[in-house]
Amino acid sequence: MKKIFSGVQPTGIITLGNYIGAFRQFTELQHDYECVFCIVDQHAITVQQDPAELSKAIRSLAAMYIACGIDPEKAILFIQSEVPAHAQAGWIMQCIAYIGELERMTQFKDKSDGTEGVSSALLTYPPLMAADILLYNTDIVPVGDDQKQHLELTRDLAERFNSRYGKVLTVPEVRIPKNGARIKSLQDPLKKMSKSDPNKRATITLLDTPKEIEKKVKSAVTDSDGVVRFDTENKPGVSNLLTIEASLTNASIEDVAAKYDGLGYGAFKTGVAEAIIGHLAPIQENYHTLLESPTLDQILDQGRDQANTIASATLRKMEDAMGLGRRR
Ligand code: TYM
Repeated sequence: MKKIFSGVQPTGIITLGNYIGAFRQFTELQHDYECVFCIVDQHAITVQQDPAELSKAIRSLAAMYIACGIDPEKAILFIQSEVPAHAQAGWIMQCIAYIGELERMTQFKDKSDGTEGVSSALLTYPPLMAADILLYNTDIVPVGDDQKQHLELTRDLAERFNSRYGKVLTVPEVRIPKNGARIKSLQDPLKKMSKSDPNKRATITLLDTPKEIEKKVKSAVTDSDGVVRFDTENKPGVSNLLTIEASLTNASIEDVAAKYDGLGYGAFKTGVAEAIIGHLAPIQENYHTLLESPTLDQILDQGRDQANTIASATLRKMEDAMGLGRRR
C-alpha cells in the first residue's frame, strides 16, 4: 500500500483554508493509503511562541484532526517533538541542503522580509520538513498550493542524498487538491487565507460561531457587477466563495455557480455562509467532546510509538549509509 505523510503547524486555530487544502484530502485518502499525520510543533517554534498557548494549540490541533474525520485506527497521528528522529534527520537534511536553495524559498523571503531578529531556523525549516516526509518512506504528500516549493526541495534533497549515499530514501510526489488548493483571504482575494492574518475578518476558523461566519462572509470583498460567475482573474472574491462552497459540498464549481445564477450577492453570500455553518457544525461538536476526553492522549501515545518505530528505522539507515557512529 502506498504511503502518505502530511503535517500541520499548531499555531492558532486552523482555518477554512487549511481544512479545504489539507484536512479534506487527509480524510479521503486514509481509506486507501497508509497515512501518517503530524502536529509539527517544532516547525511552530521557528517564530517565538508563548509556551502556554503553544501547548494548548497542540492539543487543540490533535482534537481537530480527529473531529474532522481522521480515524486513529486507520491513520497514525502524532506530535513531532515526541519523535526524536525528526530533529536528528532534520540535521542530516541541513547538511544535504545548500544555503542558496533555502534562500530562494518564497516563504522564507516573505517571512524574513524587513523583519529583524529572524531565527536561523526560519531558513533551515525546509530541510526539517523534508526529514518529516522522508522518515516515513512517503510516496505522496497531500498539501495546499503554498507548500509546493517545499515539496520540490524535498524531492531534490532525497535525490541528492540517494546519489551520494545509495538508494535509501523514497522520493515523494506532491498532491494538491483540484479545487481549493489556495483558499483566499475574504478581505483581499488576491492573498491566501492565513492563520496569521491580523485582520480577523479575512479568515474563517474551524471554531467560528455561525454568527461570526455569517458576518465574515457577508463582509467578504467581491466586486460591483453583481453577477455570480467563476472567473479568478476578474472576479477573485466571487470565485473564492464559489470554490469554498463547491469544496465543502462536493459539488462542481459550475453547479454551484448555476445555483446562484440571476440571484444577487446577498442571496449568494447567505447560501455560502449556510454551507460553511452546516459543514462545520458536526466537526465543532466532535471537537469539544474530544478535547475534554482522555481518548485524545491515548491516541497520541499510540501514534508516537508507531511513528517512532518507523522513523527510527529510516534514521538508522540514513546514518549507516553516511558512516555515522560505530556501526560500520
Ligand atoms: P501550515 O500549517 O501552514 O498549513 C497546513 C496545511 O494547510 C494548507 N493551507 C492551505 N490550503 C489551501 N488554502 C489556504 N489558504 C491554505 N493555507 C494553508 C497548507 O498547504 C498545508 O498543507 N510547512 C507546513 C507544515 C509541514 C508539513 C510537513 C506539511 C511541516 N512538515 C511535512 C507536509 C509534510 C506548513 O507550514 O503548513
